[in-house]
Amino acid sequence: MSAERARGGSAAGTGLTGRMPPSSQDEVTMDARLDARPAELLPRLPSPIEELADGRLAERGIRLLLKRDDLIHPAIPGNKWRKLRGNLDEARRLGHDTLLTFGGAYSNHIRAVAAAGGLFGFRTVGVIRGEEHLPLNPTLRFAADAGMRLTYLDRTSYRAKTSAAVVERLGAEFGEFHLLPEGGSNPLGVRGCAGLPAEIDRPFDVICCSCGTGGTLAGIAAGLGPGQRALGVPVLRGAGFLAAEVDALQRAAFGVNSGNWTMAFDFHFGGYARSTPELVRFIADFRDRHGLALEPVYEAKLLYALVALAAADAFPPGTTVVAVLNALADDPGPAAQRRVAPGPGATTPGRGLTRWSR
Ligand SMILES: Cc1ncc(COP(=O)(O)O)c(C=O)c1O
Repeated sequence: MSAERARGGSAAGTGLTGRMPPSSQDEVTMDARLDARPAELLPRLPSPIEELADGRLAERGIRLLLKRDDLIHPAIPGNKWRKLRGNLDEARRLGHDTLLTFGGAYSNHIRAVAAAGGLFGFRTVGVIRGEEHLPLNPTLRFAADAGMRLTYLDRTSYRAKTSAAVVERLGAEFGEFHLLPEGGSNPLGVRGCAGLPAEIDRPFDVICCSCGTGGTLAGIAAGLGPGQRALGVPVLRGAGFLAAEVDALQRAAFGVNSGNWTMAFDFHFGGYARSTPELVRFIADFRDRHGLALEPVYEAKLLYALVALAAADAFPPGTTVVAVLNALADDPGPAAQRRVAPGPGATTPGRGLTRWSR
């Protein structure tokens, strides 16, 4: 694959010349609340940076740094912390005691909002796409155990989840609430991600992250310095629309598209929460090489993409790449591999598709 195939990014609003400052949300009331908490509940910020020695990258002259955002907080890791922090302050400022948000049945965001509600004293409501399935899967079990009330919207209503009619219906059922968008990707969430690059105390050229809603990429790209660029790896199939979403999120958060990001669309492995035997092998091999169990829905696709792009000389020798890890696998053992039914031995992304079934 050539660099040209790592396409995307909006041509509009190019010409970023400096780092966009995160918003003034940074000195906020949640700090006061956090100070009152036991040390183990405090966020680990800045998150650590680890150099990863991987022969596949080294032989192309590429240095890889991992930004270990998965270590920010045990229950609210990675971009979840960065996105929720400003939003929780805003909810508190507005006097709301209930957070309502949306997500799929395996949503990391639902899980994180449930945990944040418990930690920071909000009631929470999770509006889940599709029908209820009992027993609850581990994500929804965790959310329910953390006190989140769960409700379900059929797929048509879910598409209209932020329409006045649906929000009114939810209001009638749950009373007044503070609405957090799916994935926590609103201007406050995006601004929360913009502080990440400034935490990196060594020179780098490219920073990469996986993309679901695109909010993390929108924020990180906005926080880069001159000459640096961001690469997003969407985990959804047919994610061409995401370039417009990232553009819109940046404009809403900062008033301008930073113009320093692109996306590599070819690493979805069949789509959201799908996998192939090849990706499973990559995860197992990565664990053997580095002792890290990659989270399979997002971060394994990101790392796979980096290795594949390096092999295709998409990065010039001498490039330092930062990969943002928002999570590791819940289930790091060999059992993780049993989640995927044997496929037809695919060798390219998108073939031999199987669905994660945790
Ligand atoms: C582990 C992980 N990485 C990456 C992402 C993608 O973030 P975004 O929705 O901001 O693109 C998510 C989103 O939920 C996630 O849970």
